[in-house]
Amino acid sequence: MRLPVSGTVSRGDLREDVAYYVGKEKDGSFVKQSPVEVSRNVLYRGKERYNIYCSSCHGGVGDGKGVILNYGLIPPTFHSDRLRSIEDGYIYDVITNGIRTMPSYRHSVPVQDRWAIILYVRALQRSQNARVQDIPDDVKRSWWASLAFLNLSSQYIRKHGDLEKIITVEHFHDMGRRSEVFW
Ligand code: HEC
Repeated sequence: MRLPVSGTVSRGDLREDVAYYVGKEKDGSFVKQSPVEVSRNVLYRGKERYNIYCSSCHGGVGDGKGVILNYGLIPPTFHSDRLRSIEDGYIYDVITNGIRTMPSYRHSVPVQDRWAIILYVRALQRSQNARVQDIPDDVKRSWWASLAFLNLSSQYIRKHGDLEKIITVEHFHDMGRRSEVFW
């Protein structure tokens, strides 16, 4: 049996928790925010699973430039206003049920991993759409130089391993409202 990743604990009673298992509120609308607690473990688990299950199509940084492009399928970039502001529950639904030409991943990606992947997708979105004022001051000082690269192409991030850290920084800020410290 595989143990759940630590930190992937739903807030409510698991069996009853529509948000956790379906990604929807009781009224049927998508949950705006993931019901899963944010932690570094979950983020890294999401990164690992994303790279296994999503990156071949959506690309390492979510720009839609995965190798699948060579085979005629055209996945969207995650860096559009629409997908940046879409509910976490919507993405959960896409992974679970697939959408149009994208297949379902319900059998290969268990529930807790779907939420972990969504967390990582959010981190990727932040990493490609950063504003200077998004970065906390103490972080800004040390990361100022790197910021200049933020909006460069995904190639850059892939080639420069160090820049992956930006994802963590960005993520840290995004999740600040959940008061989780990542480093
Ligand atoms: C086999 C290729 C493939 C894989 C693997 C894949 N996707 Fe997709 N995905 C697509 C394609 C193609 C679309 C566009 C579907 C369409 O609109 O016809 C898409 C669309 C999406 C969308 C946008 C839906 C919308 O409303 O526009 C999201 C979000 C998404 N995928 C997330 C994921 C996540 C997360 C994973 C990993 C669990 C994943 N995808 C794995 C091919 C893939």
